[in-house]
Amino acid sequence: MADKDDITEGKDFGIGIPQAHTPFHVKGAHALDWGMQNRLGRIFNPESGRTVMLAFDHGYFQGPATGLERIDLSILPLVPYADVLMCTRGVLRSVIPPSSTKPVVLRCSGGQSILKELSNETIAVNIDDAIRLNVAAITTQIYIGAPYEHDSIKNLIKLIDDGNRYSIPTMAVTGVGAEMARDARYFLLATRIAAELGAHYVKSYYIEDGFEKVTSACPVPIVIAGGKKLPELDALTMAYRAINEGAAGVDMGRNIFQSDAPVAMIQAVAAVVHNDEDPKRALELYETIKAEDNK
Ligand code: 5RP
Repeated sequence: MADKDDITEGKDFGIGIPQAHTPFHVKGAHALDWGMQNRLGRIFNPESGRTVMLAFDHGYFQGPATGLERIDLSILPLVPYADVLMCTRGVLRSVIPPSSTKPVVLRCSGGQSILKELSNETIAVNIDDAIRLNVAAITTQIYIGAPYEHDSIKNLIKLIDDGNRYSIPTMAVTGVGAEMARDARYFLLATRIAAELGAHYVKSYYIEDGFEKVTSACPVPIVIAGGKKLPELDALTMAYRAINEGAAGVDMGRNIFQSDAPVAMIQAVAAVVHNDEDPKRALELYETIKAEDNK
């Protein structure tokens, strides 16, 4: 039976103590709805404010890319070390165990292949299905300056509007066509367009000159793609510089899953992203874990 006395007898009302208010740790997200912040808070670690996303969505236009021939064999061992998984709904449903508690950023565009014009994409997932999959965020790509620039921007606008209805954030990927310059002017333009249209965070490439301007001019977090496979030290150096110059993390694929020792590499990347480990020490960590794992 309910204890009616307790209705009036409570004594710990904290009279005079202002209600606790914890500032939200994700750039540009302070005024978003609770559900939106909660999802972003699962992506960006509240302590470091950063994220290590593991991208393995390449098959949606490339087929079984090197390292992704068998996602069950190559990617599942990396899952415990990633903060977030970025993949397609096909791979999520068929390969990733639903018991996984890792937040998922769902690739929601498609419709082209590597044999044709890359910018010719459409939205390939209905928001209902993203909700069914319990994703933390949804994503599509914009191709600024490419033949289908307008369509790709329309895809982003639609995805943001769909996501906003259910407090699901959208990550905009700044895709770069084969012929396009990868310089500060380009990424300033592309990342800012994405943020102005309402993307909650943006994936860009790291550039040697002017990356700080790109992160500074973008009112929401930027995470970097890894790009083509580099020697481990170069990939760790790129991540280190990006973080130092204002990136809020990485969304890395090939430089992790194509590494000689992917489990060691993802841990080395995480040390750079979350602990500001310098690239040489991160490489030592990589070598140590690799040696341990080979015993
Ligand atoms: C491709 C993507 C990929 O997920 C991303 O580029 C993969 O990362 P990486 O370049 O590190 O392999 O968004 O359109």
